[in-house]
Amino acid sequence: MSAAKTDPKRITTHVLQEMKRRQEPISMLTSYDYSMASLVDAGGIDVILVGDSASNVMAGHETTLPITLDQMIYHAQSVVRAVKRALVVVDMPFGSYQGNSEEALRSAIRIMKESGGHSVKLEGGVEVQESISRIVKAGIPVMGHLGLTPQSIYKFGTYTVRAKEEAEALRLREDARLLQEAGCFAIVLEKVPANLAKEVAEELAIPVIGIGAGAGVDGQVLVIHDMLGLTQEFKPRFLRRYADLAGTIHQAVTQYVADVKGRGFPNPKESY
Ligand code: KIV
Repeated sequence: MSAAKTDPKRITTHVLQEMKRRQEPISMLTSYDYSMASLVDAGGIDVILVGDSASNVMAGHETTLPITLDQMIYHAQSVVRAVKRALVVVDMPFGSYQGNSEEALRSAIRIMKESGGHSVKLEGGVEVQESISRIVKAGIPVMGHLGLTPQSIYKFGTYTVRAKEEAEALRLREDARLLQEAGCFAIVLEKVPANLAKEVAEELAIPVIGIGAGAGVDGQVLVIHDMLGLTQEFKPRFLRRYADLAGTIHQAVTQYVADVKGRGFPNPKESY
């Protein structure tokens, strides 16, 4: 085992569970490439998610459905090469685990072997319970994902808040318990009412990481392109923008174009 892997400062699934016990909030952001992951890791983030949101923000697809297992592994390899401290969670893409638990295990093993990621994430409740148990039994840590699960967007029809009705809220609580029993080390809850998310976090021993799930959970996750202001049209209520990188990049590119056209770049000091 390399020194890096045994570094006590590295975040592991056990560290996250300790953080929940100590009530220390867990910070999580997505990354999909080496340069961004280096910066995010150096910023002190606890968990980096190589999300299938890469399908939207990196590849320009409308949904997360088109991204493939090979593409997820490529993104995860780049992130893993950059990360020194954070736990790296890799999303299992649509079509890589829904068939049956054998397919799910095979896909999870490919992610772990080929990317060097530390764990996998998959969407769903009771319908993926058997797959989660099987992956966990093989020694692979699994993060669950309930509430708004974007891989099922064509079933839901919209990206609106989930589990507002009692029946769906009950099902979500039951699914959360099942995921914990199946061996998940943590769960993402996406776009559900804050009260429900808080209750689920209180009921479970494992960390619950929210996105659009209020402040009563054990940690928060955002898509890095959204929180840095690189995506401009996506403006859900839960999103806080910490920078306006789209504006900064636009300003830099238009200035560069003007400098080149006006023969202001390069100057003699920038030439050999
Ligand atoms: O793919 C992703 O970025 C995610 C987060 C929104 C949790 O699953």
